Amino acid sequence: MTTDTVAARFRQVLGQYPTGVVVVTATDADGQPLGMTVGTFSSVSLDPPLVAFMPQKNSGSWAAIRAAGSRFCINILSDTQEAVCRQVATRKTDKLAGIPWRPSAGGSPIIEASVAFVDCETVAVHDAGDHEIVIGLVTDLDVLGATNPLLFFRGGYGSFLPQSLAAGDADLVDQLRLVDLARPHMEELAADCDSEVTAISLVRDELVLTAAAGRAKTAQSPTRVGQRVPFMPPLGGVFAAWGDDRLRQHWLDRLGSDVPEHQVEIQRQAPDRILERGYSIAIGHTDGERLESLSTKVNSKDPEVSSDTLRDAIKRVTVGYNAGDLDESVSHELRSLSAPVFGPDGSVALTLTLWGPPGRISTAAIHQYAERLIDTAAAATLAVGGMLPSGRLQESAR
Ligand SMILES: Cc1cc2nc3c(=O)[nH]c(=O)nc-3n(C[C@H](O)[C@H](O)[C@H](O)COP(=O)(O)O)c2cc1C
Repeated sequence: MTTDTVAARFRQVLGQYPTGVVVVTATDADGQPLGMTVGTFSSVSLDPPLVAFMPQKNSGSWAAIRAAGSRFCINILSDTQEAVCRQVATRKTDKLAGIPWRPSAGGSPIIEASVAFVDCETVAVHDAGDHEIVIGLVTDLDVLGATNPLLFFRGGYGSFLPQSLAAGDADLVDQLRLVDLARPHMEELAADCDSEVTAISLVRDELVLTAAAGRAKTAQSPTRVGQRVPFMPPLGGVFAAWGDDRLRQHWLDRLGSDVPEHQVEIQRQAPDRILERGYSIAIGHTDGERLESLSTKVNSKDPEVSSDTLRDAIKRVTVGYNAGDLDESVSHELRSLSAPVFGPDGSVALTLTLWGPPGRISTAAIHQYAERLIDTAAAATLAVGGMLPSGRLQESAR
């Protein structure tokens, strides 16, 4: 093979291997930010904590970062940052122009909306053909949000497909098939209400957010897909409502013994209320935001937030969920409404949640949202080949 053929084959074969994309940042002597787009980032060692990336020897960006000193910061790009990736890879100077960032403890730019950052100090630069291998000792690191990373594969950019959720989880494979069938109805409702509609499945003892359509104005995390929370009051009340006595009791038992009796009572009655109304309701943005932020942290394995902290927070929000009838004379902060999508055996296959608008709305407006959600869930039931229980739901499906 000629040298050219070898190079082409090398690129073709190695291009079959996907990578994430990071931007290595540093600050020069004048305090100006520097950047370089890199696909060859890797974690190396836990003790001591080391990472590496491999710059081309003739790269101008690398020469500038190296000349700036021993500090650098790795920014793991999210799938919303393809433009950042391209800008940093192609501009010759002022690479972070227009890109929001803040300085890390080591003084290097942390790019906003990245998945995570890893602040480093260079401890070795090894020679490796036409590249170098830069080893960085990790001095600080954190996850910035539960976003999906940007992926690079065969010369193109991409993101995780939802199938990644199913890895190793046989129950979830079936769920994702159902969610696909329900999706057009979710999209329609999200567009109609200018909000977000999410699909939630019960997988063993966890509620898993399997799909999202639209975007809630109150959303905390960039994407909620993939998030898991424990199946315990007040969450997942729709599954308990249409479940048998054993499931209801199991759900209630998970509240534990340290919850005030009046709150336990609200949750004991919640399934019947949900059954009667046809949907469950959560009131209160502050509690909801707190829960969402904690669950985002637990799901992204933030070491500072344990799953016990999340459980405690869930227990504390019981009052806003499925309490009594809403006072018609005042407005309310509608956090979310959830309704059941039934499977072929008549049990709840998944739930659809419609996220409310920011601020307060009237009780009448909440009832209108609820009507639309119930109609959508009924249409989704038909789309997944499910069986509606008799009564109200069947009427709305026609
Ligand atoms: C997705 C992607 C991954 C890249 N990975 C690397 C890498 O690992 N090492 C490297 O030297 N250059 C990499 N580059 C190229 C550099 O970002 C930059 O374009 C190159 O160094 C030439 O520009 P310069 O001379 O201005 O630095 C990558 C570019 C892209 C778009």
